[in-house]
Amino acid sequence: MGRDNLVPVQIPRQVLTNRQLESIADAIISLYRQRDVVPALEPVREGPWCDQMRYRGFFADLEPYEIDSIPYVIHTIERVGRLSQEERRLAIRAAGYNTFLLRSVDVTIDLLTDSGTSAMSTDQWAAYDAARATPCTSDEYRRLVHVLRDATGYQHIIPTHQGRAAEHILSQIMIKPGQIVQGNMYFTTTKLHQELAGGVFADVIVEAAHDPTSTYPWKGNIDLPKLRQIVEQHGPEQIAYISFEHSVNMAGGQPVSMDNMRAVYGLCAPLRIPVFFDATRMAENARMIQKRDPHYHDTNIRDILREMLMYGDGCTVSGKKDFLINIGGLLAFRDNAEWTYDAEHLLRIYEGNTTDGGLSAADLACISRGVEEMLDDRYIGARVRQTEALGQMLLEADIPIVTPPGSHAIFLDAKRFLPHIDQDAFPAQRLAAEIYVETGVRAMERGNVSKGRNPKTGENYRPSLELVRLTIPRRVYTRDHMRAVADGIIRVYQRREEIEGLRFVYEPEKLRFFQGRFAPIEE
Ligand code: F0G
Repeated sequence: MGRDNLVPVQIPRQVLTNRQLESIADAIISLYRQRDVVPALEPVREGPWCDQMRYRGFFADLEPYEIDSIPYVIHTIERVGRLSQEERRLAIRAAGYNTFLLRSVDVTIDLLTDSGTSAMSTDQWAAYDAARATPCTSDEYRRLVHVLRDATGYQHIIPTHQGRAAEHILSQIMIKPGQIVQGNMYFTTTKLHQELAGGVFADVIVEAAHDPTSTYPWKGNIDLPKLRQIVEQHGPEQIAYISFEHSVNMAGGQPVSMDNMRAVYGLCAPLRIPVFFDATRMAENARMIQKRDPHYHDTNIRDILREMLMYGDGCTVSGKKDFLINIGGLLAFRDNAEWTYDAEHLLRIYEGNTTDGGLSAADLACISRGVEEMLDDRYIGARVRQTEALGQMLLEADIPIVTPPGSHAIFLDAKRFLPHIDQDAFPAQRLAAEIYVETGVRAMERGNVSKGRNPKTGENYRPSLELVRLTIPRRVYTRDHMRAVADGIIRVYQRREEIEGLRFVYEPEKLRFFQGRFAPIEE
């Protein structure tokens, strides 16, 4: 066989993942198996260069082959930290055993958060560069409004610089001091803004959400009897609103079912209790509905999302997650002009113009493109599958995680991982630190430290969930990274009995998980 019969498969550098290369190999193998039915080509134009040749052929009846991988390739790379284990031991000590305080350059795989860590697309960067500088009259604001109205079905679109800015404004305009806000679990900043506005938070999430071993598929749901009972006890006028989070972060990234959204709205709308979504992870929730609810298997993400948001009066969004941008947020109302007027008033005081919320036109440009990309079924499917793959690797090694695996993160159950450490010695905080030392992977505590202290008793809350969150940034890591993370955690699990708890050496009063510093209890 001469050189003329070779077909080179040339591999670009740092562009394809191993999984993509495997898929290419599988495609070639599949073709090889069917080689007997591959027809010959007949040249119709000849020439010395291959781009001058033309052929006539016909398509054989080959089996279709779908490449099974993330629907994009690597465009730009970022180097990762490569400290030795001994250097990591010193780094975590210097950071007060708080992974938030580690230097990012010292981290190898950064699973601290999925917030503001997405890889942007070439289209987003092109739009970023092309945006005219002044946001208040730029076309980017108009495009943003158009895209978000279409995606959400909400009429009033108010950009903010982050999610918590939208939460601040919503809380201030909707809550009268002493009123109750009912929610499906809580998010730290959301609950804090509700309390700063004088609200009293009441958790009405289903019981299963508090049990990390339950495999109930809709652990983000609101418990309707609990909700009804609080309304009956206090009267609907005492309820400021329902704070309804999609893909509940603190419960382990657990979705809300469409039936539950419909039922909650059905109960609240006649009582004139507003329902506001924290729609930060709305696309991931929509994907879970598409996968787990047979009624929606054949409905696309865009349509599922529109229906989800129909069962609410508005939403807040931290755009730094599903919107595939690294700064930005949203407050939106379906049709209430009065709330919009009040919100825009506060927006001007605290954030920026009503047409930018303090963002640059370039940021607005990235949001519009990001929202379109988030609604791509192939993207969101691959996104959720990657997280689930990490969950599956850990489950196969009997590592205790919150089940079923969530969509943005896998949560380790520190109570079962380190059962010998009392919750007031912060097992999840210690576990996150150990994972960093073992592997260079940065995770985050979501448990007793995050929940804080009861202001009345001064005691730690000791929440039912004591978790370490491994949060997967969007479009950043590959399946090989997930394998390395799982292998590192399995090694920590094998030496779990040697691991001791922590005590505070510096405890901030609010949101103590960000800046708090710890020392090992044995020192
Ligand atoms: N709501 C949810 C559900 C969130 O997860 C976050 C942020 C916010 C609101 C606040 O939005 O950061 O834009 O002001 N979560 C990040 C995280 C910080 O790591 O989970 P923000």
